[in-house]
Amino acid sequence: MNDLNKEVILKTVGLTKHYGGVRALEDANFSISSHEHIAIVGDNGAGKSTFVRSITGVERPTFGKIFFNGKEVNFRSPTDARESGIETVYQNLALADDLDVTSNIFLGREIEYFKLGPLSWLNKSAMKKKSSELLAQTGIKIGNLSQAVASMSGGQRQCVAISRAAGWGSKLIVMDEPTAALGIQETKKVEEIIKNLKERNIPVIIISHNLRQVFDLVDKIAVFRQGRIIDVVKTSEVTGNDVVALITGLDKKNRAVGEYI
Ligand SMILES: Nc1ncnc2c1ncn2[C@@H]1O[C@H](COP(=O)(O)OP(=O)(O)OP(=O)(O)O)[C@@H](O)[C@H]1O
Ligand SMILES: [Mg+2]
Repeated sequence: MNDLNKEVILKTVGLTKHYGGVRALEDANFSISSHEHIAIVGDNGAGKSTFVRSITGVERPTFGKIFFNGKEVNFRSPTDARESGIETVYQNLALADDLDVTSNIFLGREIEYFKLGPLSWLNKSAMKKKSSELLAQTGIKIGNLSQAVASMSGGQRQCVAISRAAGWGSKLIVMDEPTAALGIQETKKVEEIIKNLKERNIPVIIISHNLRQVFDLVDKIAVFRQGRIIDVVKTSEVTGNDVVALITGLDKKNRAVGEYI
């Protein structure tokens, strides 16, 4: 860890994931500081989700090391990563449909009056109060917290998912295409929430296929191609065309491949 600047919240060294003969992720060296928002871009199958799954405990890497918050970690499950402070928001709106907003925000973290073996009595009013606070912090207005999330729009659902992720003192939020299933207005709302996280200094890693969104939201862009991180560029120093060139490999400018900023 001596090489780790204390500003760095997460760092991977040689992170690799093979599925049998498929080299989904190869030698990924990546780092994000505690104030940064970084986008991960790349074509379909470039290894973006594999990388995210590997740092959030969904997959066990084949090789490589992950350092988080100052020490090496080996997450055995997403819960493990979550307990350390990494929250993940997925494209497929991973909320429990039948439960209301409050129950979704508290999933796995319910406040109990008391517990007797498998039986427990939940303190619903305390949970509701805390939910309102968390949603307010993120700037989200949801009238009725007792509403089942199945009846909410994709955008509202994603806002609840992000509030949940942002609301538990998380040290890093990772999002895999959080707006892929959303309409224009809903996407805008989610983007506002991500900007709000920036103001609150909560670091974010976001996979996105939407370059407009990437340029609007993040400080740096990590470009994945065929399982490798081929470049990390500062958003302020590149154009959309530069990024497309890196994604496709048609790199007319001869940028130094593999050079990290
Ligand atoms: N569970 C798995 N078993 C076998 N191969 C897999 C598995 N998951 C991913 N792969 C392969 O690993 C490679 C990287 O996939 P990954 O899902 O990480 O891509 P991606 O960059 O997220 O793509 P997309 O933009 O389409 O979401 C692909 O070739 C994919 O087929
Ligand atoms: Mg993916």
